[in-house]
Amino acid sequence: MSPRYALFLALVSLSFFAYRNVSAARCHPDDKAGLLAFKSDITEDPSGMLSDWKADTDCCQWKALFCGLTNRVQSIRLGGQPDNPKRYLSGTFSPLLSNLVQLDQIILSNNRFSGPIPDSLRRLNELYDLDLSGNRFSGEIPNFWDSFPKLLYLRLSNNEFIGGIPTSIASLAPKLMYLELGNNRLSGKIPEFISNFKALDTLDLSSNLFSGVLPKSFKNLTKIFNLNLARNNLVDPFPDLAVKGIESLDLSYNKFKLGKIPKWVTSSTIIYSLKLAGCGIKMRLDDWKPMRTYYYDFIDLSDNEITGSAIKLVNSTEELAGFWASGNQLKFNLSDLKMPESLKYLDLSRNQVFGSVPHSIVGLEKLNLSYNSLCGKIPTSKFPAEAFAGNACLCGSPLPACRIQ
Ligand SMILES: *[C@@H]1O[C@H](CO)[C@@H](O)[C@H](O)[C@H]1NC(C)=O
Ligand SMILES: *[C@@H]1O[C@H](CO)[C@@H](O)[C@H](O)[C@H]1NC(C)=O
Ligand SMILES: *[C@@H]1O[C@H](CO)[C@@H](O)[C@H](O)[C@H]1NC(C)=O
Ligand SMILES: *[C@@H]1O[C@H](CO)[C@@H](O)[C@H](O)[C@H]1NC(C)=O
Repeated sequence: MSPRYALFLALVSLSFFAYRNVSAARCHPDDKAGLLAFKSDITEDPSGMLSDWKADTDCCQWKALFCGLTNRVQSIRLGGQPDNPKRYLSGTFSPLLSNLVQLDQIILSNNRFSGPIPDSLRRLNELYDLDLSGNRFSGEIPNFWDSFPKLLYLRLSNNEFIGGIPTSIASLAPKLMYLELGNNRLSGKIPEFISNFKALDTLDLSSNLFSGVLPKSFKNLTKIFNLNLARNNLVDPFPDLAVKGIESLDLSYNKFKLGKIPKWVTSSTIIYSLKLAGCGIKMRLDDWKPMRTYYYDFIDLSDNEITGSAIKLVNSTEELAGFWASGNQLKFNLSDLKMPESLKYLDLSRNQVFGSVPHSIVGLEKLNLSYNSLCGKIPTSKFPAEAFAGNACLCGSPLPACRIQ
């Protein structure tokens, strides 16, 4: 680019931004009033996320907001950062935020909001993305979902909601892609209408108090990629899903007695996370022949009745980061387990694993080999005695020194 042309471009863009600042992007008074009311219900903002929200400035220039062409606020993105202890907001969710009638995105995740979701939110018919996950919202989830014909992402996980899944959620069926209600105190049965969600990609109902059987029609969720129903009180039968391929599945710690790893899991060629802990699986691990193990990152088969060896399975993966198989009857020589370099977490506690502890454990982040039949000197590592307790004849730090024979 010639220097002259570059200067010309710089001048053009400068004047464009100057023009934008003066005459474009003027905040609508209803939006400003709603935002200032929202701010006045915030009791803590230690990192100053809202410090430039001031009555005498243009709200379209405030941080965390986006104004559309009509100069109405369309998006509010105020997610906290769980790893930054100062970046959060606390307070209640002002009902006056519903002044911002053109909002299509509200992200308030990972803050400390408490109290209910205001009923006035039903005015925001343009919403496609509502993320209130990771707060302290409580009460029942409002039953106003027929007001949101465009909603694609609904994330309410990690709060303190009680009651059932409201019936009006059914009206989101044609479009909704993400339904995340995990880690609340929701109860009741999983409603039949869930199977109408033809576009659903991700369903997270984990760590709640859901009970009873899953509706038979659950198998109509053919597009589902991520399914997490772990830690509820669901019972058999688990329907055979007709999914094209599942990417991540967690059914751990319900009251299922699956017997085997389901066929639709074994045949998935894109699965990366499989968690079936405490699912009543009773099989030889050597007999499991997953169609493709290449993408596996996480496998959790803890607390089942699995026998045989994990050597072939672990050896067939290339990216495995976590393998948990605590509380089974696995019986193999640990010296022969070839750990992929990607492996970070290994839990084989409470099995019948024998042989000695290989040097390759040194690179792991977490390890538990307690209550097996291991023997010999432990390689020097950072793991505590608890990781090696209850074995036949392990010795050396962190356990008592080996006796010289
Ligand atoms: C599930 O799909 C079958 C056909 O594939 C259909 O007959 C049935 O009505 C569907 N059920 C629901 C609840 O959508
Ligand atoms: C592990 O895999 C390698 C090649 O991928 C193969 O040569 C080796 O025999 C396997 N070992 C076991 C114990 O299955
Ligand atoms: C290791 O496993 C044992 C038995 O499963 C369990 O009691 C213990 O809490 C585990 N320790 C760690 C550090 O995970
Ligand atoms: C475990 O395997 C190692 C190496 O293959 C072998 O030297 C050792 O004897 C085996 N231990 C047992 C108890 O079979």
